[in-house]
This record gives sequence, C-alpha cells and structure tokens, in this order.
Amino acid sequence: MAAFADKATLDLRKLPLLLLLCVQLSHTFPVRGESPEEKSTRVVQDYLEKFYQLPRNRFQSERKNSTSVIMEKLREMQRFFGLNETGKPNQETLEMMQKPRCGVPDSGDFMLTPGNPKWKQTNLTYRIIKYTPQLSEANVETAIQKAFQVWSNVSPLTFTKVSQGEVDIRISFVQGDHGDNSPFDGPNGILAHAFQPGQGIGGDVHFDAEETWTENSSNYNLFLVAAHEVGHSLGLSHSTDPGALMYPNYVFHDPSTYTLPQDDINGIQTIYGKSVGRTLSPSSNPVQPTGPSTPTTCDPRLTFDAIATLRGEILFFKDKYFWRRHPQLPRVELNFISLFWPSLPDGIQAAYEDVDKDLVFLFKGSQYWALSGYDIKQGYPKDISDYSFPSSVQAIDAAVYYRRKTYFFVNDQVWRYDNQRQSMEPGYPKSIASIFPGIESTVDAVFQQNHVFLFFSGPRYYAFDLGAHEVIRVGRSNRWLNCR
Ligand SMILES: *[C@@H]1O[C@H](CO)[C@@H](O)[C@H](O)[C@H]1NC(C)=O
Ligand SMILES: *[C@@H]1O[C@H](CO)[C@@H](O)[C@H](O)[C@H]1NC(C)=O
Ligand SMILES: *[C@@H]1O[C@H](CO)[C@@H](O)[C@H](O)[C@H]1NC(C)=O
Ligand SMILES: *[C@@H]1O[C@H](CO)[C@@H](O)[C@H](O)[C@H]1NC(C)=O
Ligand SMILES: [Zn+2]
Ligand SMILES: [Zn+2]
Repeated sequence: MAAFADKATLDLRKLPLLLLLCVQLSHTFPVRGESPEEKSTRVVQDYLEKFYQLPRNRFQSERKNSTSVIMEKLREMQRFFGLNETGKPNQETLEMMQKPRCGVPDSGDFMLTPGNPKWKQTNLTYRIIKYTPQLSEANVETAIQKAFQVWSNVSPLTFTKVSQGEVDIRISFVQGDHGDNSPFDGPNGILAHAFQPGQGIGGDVHFDAEETWTENSSNYNLFLVAAHEVGHSLGLSHSTDPGALMYPNYVFHDPSTYTLPQDDINGIQTIYGKSVGRTLSPSSNPVQPTGPSTPTTCDPRLTFDAIATLRGEILFFKDKYFWRRHPQLPRVELNFISLFWPSLPDGIQAAYEDVDKDLVFLFKGSQYWALSGYDIKQGYPKDISDYSFPSSVQAIDAAVYYRRKTYFFVNDQVWRYDNQRQSMEPGYPKSIASIFPGIESTVDAVFQQNHVFLFFSGPRYYAFDLGAHEVIRVGRSNRWLNCR
C-alpha cells in the first residue's frame, strides 16, 4: 500500500491523544480575520468539493441552504475513512482532511472507477514529458519504472518506456493551474492525480511540481506516489482499506521491501485477469503472487502478536500494524509501526511496560528495544541474553510486568525476572498452567490492568485475577478493540 501520512502526524504522535484533539489546523492558508469556525467550514467545504462532488456554490446564501447536502457528504466521507458517521466536522474528521493525499476523488466504496474503464490492450507505453529538478532524470526514471513494475508483477500488463511520439500514459511534473481543470495547491495537500484509461489525457499522471520529491523516507517518496497514481491510470479508484496502495492518503513504506497489498492485487486482477507468469511457458499455470492483507479490526478470528500498556494507552501489535487504544476515547486507531518507529521491524512478538522505569520494552527474536514515551532509546536493540536467558531461548511469546517482576512466556513455560536483583528467579521456568491455573495453551500476548493479567491466546482472551488466583472472565480478543 502506499499511501499518503503526514509530517504533522509524525510529530503529533508524541502527544497524548487527548491533547491531539486541541491541535489547530495547520495545512490550510490563513485567511485574514477568519474565526476558527469559519476556517473549519472552509476546510470542509473545500475538501468535499474536491473529493466528494459537493456542488460548488458561488453565493454565500446558497451555501447556507446546502447544510443538509454538506452533512450528507460529510457522512459519506466519514464512512469512507471509517470514522464515526456524525455528519459533523468533528476533530477526527478535520484531522483526516488535513492529510496529504491524492487529488482523485473518493467514489464511495467502489474500488473500480465508475463505468469500469480499462485499456483494451495489455502492452502499454509511457513517456516522461516533464521532469522535476529535485531528482536526477535517472532517479525519476527508476522510481517510475519501479512503480509500473508493482502492477506488471501481478497482472498480464506490460509497460514500455518510449521517448517520443504518442503513448498511452504521459507523465509530468506540473504546478498550480495546469490546464486540466484540477489545479494543484502548492506544497502538501494534493500531491498528484491521474486520469482513468482512455484517449488523449486518459491514463496521464500529473505530479505537483511544488512538492518535495525524494527517493527516501522524507516526504514525499516519488515511487510510492507514482505506484498509487498508476493504479488510477489502469482503472482503479480509491480503496477504503487503510493498508491498500489505493488508499487516498500518503503513508510511507520502505520502497526496497515494498510488496503490493492483496486488496490492490484483487483490484487489478478483477480488471485485467491474473498474472501470466512471463518466465513460464504459456500453457503452465503460473503461481499467482499474493500480498499482505490489512487486518480487519472486527474479524472474530483476529489474534495479536504482542500487547503493552503505555502511560494509560494500550498498544496492540499485529504484523506491520498496531492499534492504539486510549481509555477516554471510543475509537481505536490502526497505525503502521513504520510510521511511528521507522527503525523497528514488523512482527513484534512480545512487549511490556515497566511502570517503575517508565519504559516500554518490545521484543522480536533475540532482540529487544526500549521506548521512552514514543521514542526509541539510544543503544538499542540489545540481546535478550541481558535477562540471563539460556541460549536455548531465542524468542519470547509474551511478557508482562508486575510488582518489579517481569514474566516471560515461552512455549508452555513462564520465566520470572527480578528487576531489582537483575536476575532470573530460581526455580524458573515453570509450566504456565502451574502458575496460572486455567491458562492451558501458549500465550500470544499479555498485559496487566488493575491486578489482572489479560492473557491472549488465539482469538480469545482470559482475565486472570492475581488476587483470587483464577480466571475470572473469558472473551473474544477483539472485544478490546471495541468490537461487539
Ligand atoms: C432553501 O431551499 C428550500 C428548498 O430546497 C427553499 O424552500 C428555501 O426557501 C431556501 N432557503 C433559502 C434561505 O434560500
Ligand atoms: C501491442 O500488441 C498488439 C497486438 O499484439 C500490437 O498490434 C501492437 O503493435 C502492440 N503495441 C505495442 C506498443 O507494442
Ligand atoms: C532524503 O534525501 C534528501 C535528498 O534527496 C536529503 O536531503 C534528506 O535528508 C534525506 N532524508 C532522509 C531521511 O534520509
Ligand atoms: C459517535 O457519535 C455519536 C453522536 O455524536 C456519539 O454519541 C457516539 O459516542 C460516537 N461514537 C464513537 C464510536 O465515536
Ligand atoms: Zn488516488
Ligand atoms: Zn493535472
């Protein structure tokens, strides 16, 4: 997936969620003498006109009367992004509207462009008409070529770069009003747009020349944006899957390990059919590539890799994602691990919060990292042999901290580490069931809340009361993500 997060979000991550709610809008132009209310009205109107086909009203009086239309469009936008459908421009809605994104409108929850336009041939040509001075021509060509490859890898399509004459897809860096009725807006905001398959301008890709284009994790990575736009050139429209390449907002992913998500593979194969496997003979049945899928929050089979509390929040880790739950907020937010911590790997296996040191420790394989708030501490990763594990222990399933002891769960055993003496307690490991009667299988994740250990094993959680020394409640794991 690619997509589109924002510098502001990166910095805001350090603030507690509640504080975030009070943050002023930052990307829009200040207009002299405008009250905050007028400003948010303008932001909403502008966004809905651009991306949700809200009719443009020339007169103030007409605007007043269109309140119900605006509420309807707001609901549509909130539905698209999985926000609470209030029809009101609340803070989470305004924040979503501030994120850098693609200029192509969001058409409901259809993944294919209305009318299902497609190229009749599969051998397509492209040409780069106008370059950006910010990257060398060779760098631009590499990024664009890689962007096409993302799609040719999983479909029968081929793309040939041509340097002269008519082509199917023309690519250019342009700014402001550039003659297609969809002006660009300067730095941030809209990053690029592309046209659906067709003659003339059909299939063409325009990048906003006033953005900073990069080859790395700085905003905005050209390859990621180009791969998204090419999706439009081929007939896909925006996906509501926040992990999909065709999600409208920009999110950074490491280009060197990028694989097209399953949602986008399904989309392109719906239009053009399966990959033909060019290296195999046409008669054989090529293996179809599969991509990562975004976890579905309320999937009843949902399991977690690791869970930790962090200063009152709870972080639930899963593959390259984590959910962040704040006790005072009804909504649980799904984030990319890479967005918060670019240097952390995906697939964190265990995590715990040491409330005495005010640190969160994250484990994968034999390595571990320490977080202070949302910052990774210097000097990490370190090796779990620091906890005096024998070399036979190469990974940890789950961990939890309680009264200066850390409990580590490995297969069907539990180890207990004394943080004051800095040594593993004698007599350990013991069988999990002997210490926590009722917890019979391996543990995926565990955290502590109010003298209760919440054990997660497969799609279920078990609440183990440390006072009563028994399981007091069992439920579906995703109840913790507010699923009914
Ligand atoms: C608003 O529109 C309705 C019909 O849609 C009309 O009856 C009403 O007079 C309009 N009000 C204003 C202030 O224009
Ligand atoms: C694409 O393939 C068709 C049919 O094989 C051929 O006629 C056409 O010239 C090809 N176009 C390009 C640009 O290679
Ligand atoms: C990305 O590359 C640009 C130059 O193209 C450089 O100025 C910037 O510091 C780099 N950012 C990172 C995070 O490496
Ligand atoms: C959604 O909005 C309604 C009405 O504003 C509110 O009562 C409800 O708590 C909200 N739900 C969530 C999950 O934010
Ligand atoms: Zn787009
Ligand atoms: Zn354009």
